[in-house]
Amino acid sequence: MPNIILLGPPGAGKGTQAKRLVDERQMVQLSTGDMLREAKTSGSEMGRKVAAVMERGELVTDEIVIGLIREKLGGAAGGGFIFDGFPRTLAQADALGQLMADTGQKLNAVIEMRVDDAALVARITGRYTCGGCGAVYHDQTKPTAVAGVCDSCGSDKMVRRADDTEEALRTRLMEYYKKTSPLIGYYYAKGALSSVDGLAEMDVVAGSIATVLNSGD
Ligand code: AP5
Repeated sequence: MPNIILLGPPGAGKGTQAKRLVDERQMVQLSTGDMLREAKTSGSEMGRKVAAVMERGELVTDEIVIGLIREKLGGAAGGGFIFDGFPRTLAQADALGQLMADTGQKLNAVIEMRVDDAALVARITGRYTCGGCGAVYHDQTKPTAVAGVCDSCGSDKMVRRADDTEEALRTRLMEYYKKTSPLIGYYYAKGALSSVDGLAEMDVVAGSIATVLNSGD
């Protein structure tokens, strides 16, 4: 199975599409954001260290996130990894290349999800997720069928992220343009980059991603 990176600014739809690939292709989602939020909830020392940084919308240190990914890749058999929200800096991209080589794996595609910044505010401020299974919803574009009840697992625990405010989004976007967007050129130069229109309907975006994945079969 291919190993891919979903690359794009906050709210581009990385998590939404990663979850579809998990369901439809049995791929493995590796979201550093989810891992860090789990660490926060567990009350671990690392979780306490990163909580305020995440809430402000800044990036946590390369050392911490590379450590998280190293742990996951070390223990996982096979492939089919979807890197969601990682790498986010050139140092993280170099480290991922090394980790893949060390574990005998290959990166098959880097999919850039292109969106318009103006659309991101509405996407981020309207987002909520299921506290039971992590399914992603939106007040306007993807509400649950029954208000407050998850379509996938039936949980009635819906959560909104502490960093999903307009103010934190501005910082997250600035971090993206300063530190993450150079990865578009980095992976283009490696011949690994494909771009899809992240502003299209969710099913259309999924179709564009499938085309990229199938072209590598
Ligand atoms: P992380 O959790 O990775 O957040 P992010 O990159 O800001 O991305 P989001 O999860 O906000 O957006 P998404 O692209 O997944 O969009 P989604 O599918 O949910 O990181 C959070 C924080 O953790 C960072 O700020 C940083 O502090 C830290 N961190 C994480 N990784 C790190 C790393 N590698 N290095 C350093 N620090 C790190 O969609 C958004 C909404 O839009 C949803 O409501 C959805 O329903 C809706 N939507 C999705 N697609 C569509 C569509 N096509 N049409 C209409 N609506 C749509």
